[in-house]
Formats: sequence, C-alpha cells, structure tokens
Amino acid sequence: MKHFISTRGIDSATAIRLLDTTADMADVRQRDVKKLPTLRGKTVANVFFEDSTRTRLSFEAAALALSADVSTFTSKGSSVSKGESLKDTVQTLESMGADFIVLRHCDSGAAATLAQSGWINAHVINAGDGTHEHPTQALLDAYTLRSRLFGDSARGRNLAGVRIVIVGDILHSRVARSNVWLLATLGAHVTLVAPRTLMPRDIAAWPVAIVHTLDEALDEGVDAVMTLRIQKERMNDAFFPDAAEYTRFWGMTTARFDAVRANTLVMHPGPMNRGLEIAGSIADSANSTVRDQVSHGVAARMAVLYTLLGEDAS
Ligand code: NCD
Repeated sequence: MKHFISTRGIDSATAIRLLDTTADMADVRQRDVKKLPTLRGKTVANVFFEDSTRTRLSFEAAALALSADVSTFTSKGSSVSKGESLKDTVQTLESMGADFIVLRHCDSGAAATLAQSGWINAHVINAGDGTHEHPTQALLDAYTLRSRLFGDSARGRNLAGVRIVIVGDILHSRVARSNVWLLATLGAHVTLVAPRTLMPRDIAAWPVAIVHTLDEALDEGVDAVMTLRIQKERMNDAFFPDAAEYTRFWGMTTARFDAVRANTLVMHPGPMNRGLEIAGSIADSANSTVRDQVSHGVAARMAVLYTLLGEDAS
C-alpha cells in the first residue's frame, strides 16, 4: 500500500492486519519508552486546509512516536490566501523533504487526486476529504470496538456478528462513509439512522440497514451506537426543524441510554455538540469510548505510517 486514501476496497485480511498493527502500536504507547525508531530520518508533513484539533495533533503524535520529523502546514495564514494551489503547496513541502503528506481538504476527492497526480513521490494519507472519507478515523473506531468488545482475545479477529448503529448527520459525514465500508468488510452489521434530509441520496447502494428514528434502531442486541456531529458548517439549508426536535428523535439522550443493554458502547468521533446529538453525562460515562477513540487514534495513525513505510522496502 503506497497511499491510504479510502477504506473502500481494503480487503478483510488487510483490514485485520491494520487492526493488529494498531494493537502493536497501542502496546508501544503503554511502555515506559513510548517511541519506536521506525521513521527516524523521515519527515511527515501535515497539510491541513480545514480545521482540526484531534486529527492534526494525533498525526503529529503518531509521527513523533515513530521518531519522524514533523512539519505542520495550516492553510490559515499561509500563501493559500495568496492563491497558491494544492499542487504548489505540496511540492513546496516535498522539496523541504516530506516523505509523507497527511492531507485534510474541504474537497471530496482531494487526497485521491493528489495520490494519482504524479506531482509528488511522497506517500499520501487522507485525513478527511470534504464529505467523502476519513479512513484513519474508521480504523481507530474499528480498533476501539474490537478491543472493547473482545479484550485480550481481539487480535486476529474481525467484527462478524457485531451490531452497530450510526446515528446523525450521515449526509455530511466522511466518518460514517469510511466506517461503513470498513465495518462491512469486517463483517459487522451496520444500521444507519438519520432524518430523511440527512441521508445521502445513494444510500441504497451502501451495505447497511436504514431506519429513520433512533428508537427504531435500538434494541437489546445493539453492541455500539456511534453518534455523529451535526455539521453546521456544511449546512446552508434547514435540515431539521430545531435542536430540540433533533435531540427528541435522533439524540442519544439519557432516557434512550437507560433503555438499552447495560454494556452498550457509545462512540463519538469528536468534536461533540453536548446536549444535541449526545447527552454530556453519556459522553462522560463508563460506556463512552470517546477518550479511548482519541488515544487509539495515535496508535492507528502509527500503524498506517508504519504500513506505508513497508512499501518503500519492498
Ligand atoms: C470528524 C471530521 O473532521 O471529519 N472529526 C474528527 O476527525 N475526529 C468529524 C466531525 O468533524 O464531526
């Protein structure tokens, strides 16, 4: 694998190998010395044309944990405001020595375009492209699920038989898209829940079940509920009447939480709108994986960097 652009098309053996490598990296993170020398002498350039807290810091932490040098570019305050293109920006970074370009961009397809462009030789990792994909988020989510559900016997496993509900702003969510492909490949059963206005038009082609209220989706057999952020910045129309109405039908409220099986996991990729899509007390509960997701994000990104580096040796 030269680039990491999408979870669509990753086969099951590769997915399990990535999860197992994430487990190895998570073990490294537990040690006294939390670093490996794997990327010594290599440079990882984080190129962020869109805002980010977790993903950018997580890629920085992952690169540093593998002993890489890191340079971080954010479009705010850069020459992008002078009209410099993606091509010139990444070529500039490669000329300064970047071996990996971690790209977040507001255009769906930007990472794939860069990987196929021939503009650079560096590995390209998609850190979120518009409403399209966010594959490292899906990897860390699948890893979080696998380790929380199967503990010490997680290694080598897929997610066959696991039932996951993804609820919220599916239309604008690259997290949902990447998760759907990876979870389906791993054998999980995925149900998507959203108001009709926040369901993508091509949804019939996705390997998922679809319902329109959260109550319809929740029953005793659900292993995890993944709540998604309402992405107001991508909305220029009214997609639902108001916040209270949204919470009433699609929010993970304490009443809904109390009605599901006691060990049901509740996930959120962050940033959260507490009180809108997820009650604050649930986000802070023992069933919440929110903090685990963040910490596993570093291990998952280490695993991706490590796996792509392996390509250089072959
Ligand atoms: C997500 C993103 O940016 O796609 N956040 C993240 O990477 N953890 C989800 C979101 O912004 O809602």
